[in-house]
Amino acid sequence: MAILITGISELITCDHTLDGADQNDGLGIVRDAAVVVGSTHEDAPTSVLWIGAASDAPEADWSFDLGGQAVLPGFVDSHSHLVYAGDRSAEFAARMMGQRYDGGGILTTVEATGFATDGELRALLTARIDEMHSQGTTTVEIKSGYGLDLEEEVRHLRLAREVTEETTFLGAHVVPPDYRDDRAGYVDLVAGPMMDAAAPYARWVDVFCEPHSPHAFDGEEARLILTAGADAGLGLRVHGNQLGPGPGVQLAVELGAASVDHCTFLSDTDIDALAGSPTVATLLPGVEFSTRSPYPDARRLIDAGVSVAIATDCNPGTCNSSSMPLMIALAVREMGMTPAEAVRAATVVAARSLQRTDIGVVQVGARADLAVVSAPSYLHIPYRVGVPIVKTLQV
Ligand code: NIG
Ligand code: FE
Repeated sequence: MAILITGISELITCDHTLDGADQNDGLGIVRDAAVVVGSTHEDAPTSVLWIGAASDAPEADWSFDLGGQAVLPGFVDSHSHLVYAGDRSAEFAARMMGQRYDGGGILTTVEATGFATDGELRALLTARIDEMHSQGTTTVEIKSGYGLDLEEEVRHLRLAREVTEETTFLGAHVVPPDYRDDRAGYVDLVAGPMMDAAAPYARWVDVFCEPHSPHAFDGEEARLILTAGADAGLGLRVHGNQLGPGPGVQLAVELGAASVDHCTFLSDTDIDALAGSPTVATLLPGVEFSTRSPYPDARRLIDAGVSVAIATDCNPGTCNSSSMPLMIALAVREMGMTPAEAVRAATVVAARSLQRTDIGVVQVGARADLAVVSAPSYLHIPYRVGVPIVKTLQV
């Protein structure tokens, strides 16, 4: 069955190769456009079958008219921590009054999550995914990391797997209290038995590599865990350079990680390393907002030739926002990105950070994961900050 969507004032394809499109910094815009979506066979996901000018649109089984709204690829939120229970709003309030973030609050969430049943966690997770969908997000990566023991980490990944293919094992989020005097013992546990048990439920492995936090992992500890993850067949991601300069970026590039996330404190050497590599720098401006930290300099990264994605990092500690439109607005207002760069960072570049080409673009053969803006132009996303004008297009 084929569905024709008309009344698209501008179709943001994020396809920089599209003939005849207004490229506008790689957005690949088709104006007065139409799209046909459908499944080529029964079990196939709904995909894009045709795109072009509305005046050339083919016949279809069904059609509907958007009445002059902009359409873009559904957002790819490539960094989140959604499997958790509990509330840390008081920690947020204290930070707004000047308290520093050092990762210590993670243990509060670990405790609360450990008390939650599967049913309770599933309900919380589903509500968070629904909240994301309602704001235009169609793919979400979800990390574990609020378990910190083998059974809990596997339980959280199993629940995350119910809602996304993009699951990440983050047993190396912080060192749990029982191992405070035996860090090496915890690293061995994560790199050994936990990795083996988690790998069937995960596509990626991640480490909070942060020498500025007493709770997180240094470069050598991170290297051991990431190498074990690669040996177990997992792709690599790194939390790096969030709280200060550190080895995370260099390690991510050296080990061929798909993404290094945060990148708040970067040296020229870090930027050169990223620019010469396929590793994506994923910036998380909601974290700087919610921790009162300086924003990363996206302009400097992009001008150096680094691939920059943006994501929410939605989590109970450093950024409890699920809103990709807000991240786009912050990227434009605070990180020196153009609206076009921010939209690409939230879609096609974020997809690249997950090594996916079937999402983050509107292209024949790609998934029909679309978002609609109740405005004639994508520029309204940062322009109308805080107003819920983007939603997932249900087809
Ligand atoms: O991405 N940096 C480490 N992990 C999360 C924070 C998690 C928390 O504070 O609960 C982050 O910022
Ligand atoms: Fe994170």
